[in-house]
Amino acid sequence: MEETQRKSNGRVAVITGGAAGIGAEVGEQLAAAGYHIVIADLDLAAAQATAARFQGQGHAASALQMNVADAQSIAAGFSQIGQEFGRCDVLVNSAGIAKVLPFVEYPLDIFQSTMNVNVTGSMLCGQHAARLMIPKHWGRIVNIASVAGMRAVGSGRTAYGTSKGAVIALTRQMAVELCPHGITVNAVAPGPVDTPMTRVLHTDKFREEYTRAIPMKRYGTTAEIASAVTYLASDGASYVNGIVLPVDGGFLAHGAGSI
Ligand SMILES: NC(=O)c1ccc[n+]([C@@H]2O[C@H](COP(=O)([O-])OP(=O)(O)OC[C@H]3O[C@@H](n4cnc5c(N)ncnc54)[C@H](O)[C@@H]3O)[C@@H](O)[C@H]2O)c1
Repeated sequence: MEETQRKSNGRVAVITGGAAGIGAEVGEQLAAAGYHIVIADLDLAAAQATAARFQGQGHAASALQMNVADAQSIAAGFSQIGQEFGRCDVLVNSAGIAKVLPFVEYPLDIFQSTMNVNVTGSMLCGQHAARLMIPKHWGRIVNIASVAGMRAVGSGRTAYGTSKGAVIALTRQMAVELCPHGITVNAVAPGPVDTPMTRVLHTDKFREEYTRAIPMKRYGTTAEIASAVTYLASDGASYVNGIVLPVDGGFLAHGAGSI
């Protein structure tokens, strides 16, 4: 792990998928709040580049290669975090994948790999992080779900929507079981955000239709999602546990009728 420790507040925040998109912005906000950021990402070069950017801003950050689809990779990563820091105060499960294909033809291997990254990966990272949090009797876990786990967002999200619904159920289960240890677990459910993921996934037609269905008539920004995560990770959110916080410009609030 490459690291600097210039502005660490003594707490460590591990962000899976922290090299890009929403995870990178969460890292930036938590780094500014004084956390030492561990960017745990499949793409080591991208994680190193993001960590270097935070270091250039005077923050404390490390890059760690982790594949959340692989239990051994997760175990090795958290073992390294345990040895190096002796703690993990915040875990943000942001690593996620999505493939949009029709339900009737949805390939089993893609369904299973999506569940493996989005759900099993969040569960396993949560277990390892909790084991480091329990001795300190303080911890914050934030799972990045999606509005697609609460509504069917267009067609094609057989794996993605199901996985995010499962992330929401997982969040509630973890919240109930971990709060006796001083650990809160919550989920943020973003609406659409312009990131490397959606640049590939969202066609122009889909963007137009999605934007029309959002009362605020725009995509969210990574900063708007990260603000919600930063709040849930804060000391101030000490009585918030097991919730799903949509950050979606009113998308879920809207029913029938044109807007
Ligand atoms: N962008 C959106 O509109 C949107 C909306 C709702 C929810 N989300 C969720 O937010 C999270 C972040 O999405 P994003 O748009 O920033 O994605 P992104 O694709 O832009 O970034 C995801 C990051 O996760 C990493 N990653 C992918 N697979 C991994 C694995 N197996 N192990 C470790 N790291 C892995 C990638 O290398 C990348 O750095 C995801 O869970 C996604 O489902 C995104």
